[in-house]
Amino acid sequence: MPVVFKKAPGKIILFGEHAVVYGHPAIAIPVRKVNATARILPDISSQPGNIRIQAEDIQLDSNYTDLAENHPLAAAVRLTLQEIAPMHIPSFTIQISSTIPISAGMGSGAAVTVALIRALSSFLGAPLSNETISNLTFEVEKIHHGTPSGIDNTVISFEKPIYFEQEKTLETLKIKHPTHWVIADTGEKTPTHETVSAVREKHNENPEKYNAIFKSIGSITQKARRSLIQGDVDALGHLMDENQTLLEALGVSSPRLDTLIDKARTAGASGAKLSGGGRGGNMIALAHPDNIVDIERALTNAGAKRVIYTKLMEAAQR
Ligand code: MEV
Repeated sequence: MPVVFKKAPGKIILFGEHAVVYGHPAIAIPVRKVNATARILPDISSQPGNIRIQAEDIQLDSNYTDLAENHPLAAAVRLTLQEIAPMHIPSFTIQISSTIPISAGMGSGAAVTVALIRALSSFLGAPLSNETISNLTFEVEKIHHGTPSGIDNTVISFEKPIYFEQEKTLETLKIKHPTHWVIADTGEKTPTHETVSAVREKHNENPEKYNAIFKSIGSITQKARRSLIQGDVDALGHLMDENQTLLEALGVSSPRLDTLIDKARTAGASGAKLSGGGRGGNMIALAHPDNIVDIERALTNAGAKRVIYTKLMEAAQR
């Protein structure tokens, strides 16, 4: 059996995080400059069925059967084997690595799972469809996050810009006009399940107030869908700023996020907001082609731990 190597990109949410958990739409895009990789190496010297998992980034080197049942990597292997039900399981080693920042709103957990399921199903001679990979990844996401909306597993499995709403048919966005995005990492790490729980507590205390905020975010996202398709950068920037104000009202921004957002706007961004769960992690700014470098520099000078530029267009991304 040959060695199999598969990748999955990171992701960034442009509009609608948190509100998407409550049934409102959100827009997300894949970010291919960072990715998770899974390599599967056959191991002819071991007994059949012996599966080893190595993930250097988290100092893991273990037999699959020694991992707890709810360990996300073990769960990904188990769900894939259940889905494929192979007649014969050979011995092999799964090696995982990732350049996606952890707990920073870029979908690192989902990307590792997608890469693993894609590689394992190919290795076993039964490559799974994007839809099945997304569904299995969603099951693993529940272990990471408790109540995920499903947006991360979807955008990362399909690798397309998406307009996502729970329980609705997926819409992949046809982008005709390129847009330019600068993503900056605060370096603060907050797991998504923490911010989702914090928002849930607030929502439970005052459902009327928080439902109104989610609804407003949802209507911003609907408008942003149109502006993105039309390439109306000024309108999009405005909508990002409005979305950020509502995310602040949800209590998921942070002083460092606020600083980076402010610096990006001052450097000429059309708009800027946090992205993902918040309370740290990444922010995203919408740039014009002639101020990308200024915005990147302003964010680096303001202490961003990593700055990534991504161009959104129909066929490919830089
Ligand atoms: C996380 O990438 C986005 C959140 O909306 C959570 C979710 O959708 O599962 C905060």
